[in-house]
Amino acid sequence: MTQMLTMTINGNAVDFVPGKTVLEVCQDQGIPIPTMCHDARLKPYGGCRLCLVEVKGAPKPLTSCTTPAASGMVVTTESPRLTRLRKTIIELLLSNHPNDCMCCEAAGNCTLQEMAYQYNADMKKYPGEQWALPIREDNPFITFEANKCIVCGRCTRICNEVVMAGTIDMTGRGFNAIPDTAFSRPRSLQNCEFCGQCVSACPTGALTDRKSRGLGRSSEVTRVKTTCSYCGTGCNFFLKVRDDRVIGVESDYDAPVNKGNLCIKGRYGYDFIHHKDRITTPLIREGDGYREASWDEALELCATKFKQLIKDYGADTVGGFSSSRCTNEENYLLAKWVRTAVGSNNVDNCARV
Ligand code: SF4
Ligand code: SF4
Ligand code: SF4
Ligand code: FES
Repeated sequence: MTQMLTMTINGNAVDFVPGKTVLEVCQDQGIPIPTMCHDARLKPYGGCRLCLVEVKGAPKPLTSCTTPAASGMVVTTESPRLTRLRKTIIELLLSNHPNDCMCCEAAGNCTLQEMAYQYNADMKKYPGEQWALPIREDNPFITFEANKCIVCGRCTRICNEVVMAGTIDMTGRGFNAIPDTAFSRPRSLQNCEFCGQCVSACPTGALTDRKSRGLGRSSEVTRVKTTCSYCGTGCNFFLKVRDDRVIGVESDYDAPVNKGNLCIKGRYGYDFIHHKDRITTPLIREGDGYREASWDEALELCATKFKQLIKDYGADTVGGFSSSRCTNEENYLLAKWVRTAVGSNNVDNCARV
């Protein structure tokens, strides 16, 4: 059994498992600490400085996301000094921000916007030089509005640490630092998998899902938790639904299998749901074409044909090939049916994708 350690947070004794950061211990305890560059899927980074906390004995506030929790540590997460520092950080981030929340795709789902409101930031406190970079839509899935980038590095880190595609990295220095591909080439020419992981990591409207743009604000969609139907991994995510139509996919960071990570199929492969060619009723072949049938009629026909086949040629001529797009229970039922009802061991599945 792991030995628990104890520290003090805001005057209360807190037990924690060794190996956690101060931020993680606070999050486990439900103590809110603002973050911008932190993403639980990534290694601690310490770039934005928003998660500062006071630690007894430390001369300056420390970034809780990079500070290991230690036994006996005494931490304060809220104080007038911390509020002032966090507010200043947000105001500096806003100094070259376009502040066009009114028509921004991320409004209502933007950490910068949330933090600016929470800390009552003055958007014009530090009027600075502004970027005037073009909106990049040089691929089918991702819109990049560089002017809204706060250079937190979450997109580049997830692309390199988790996806390992190495498509984007920080380019330029100082004020000109920006996440980009080598030589600013379109992502499609730089090994991009279009997994959208960078979009899911972005805390602002700098990276957004192109297919969802303009289709609904965050507050206008219903989030329906589901399991990806493409392969046997079984990733979870939320379908964003508006007016009975799926308009996008959102990561489920609590999903035990994938922890918010997705590949291109789970993230962007939802067009089939409302596709006009999608088969929604059983079809029975007639002549050169097909006619629609009821489930009862279709199942009756299958049963008759299978029985005849087994009678004429034996059970081994029948097999079942199920799909990783089915649930475990459905796959189990198919195997059970083939083995017991048909009497054959010819069972396989396409889960090796
Ligand atoms: S990125 Fe956030 S803060 Fe910036 S314009 Fe969009 S909603 Fe507003
Ligand atoms: S879509 Fe995936 S592979 Fe492409 S840049 Fe983003 S994280 Fe990297
Ligand atoms: S594009 Fe988004 S995730 Fe990437 S550095 Fe800019 S703000 Fe951060
Ligand atoms: S969240 Fe800790 S430094 Fe950014």
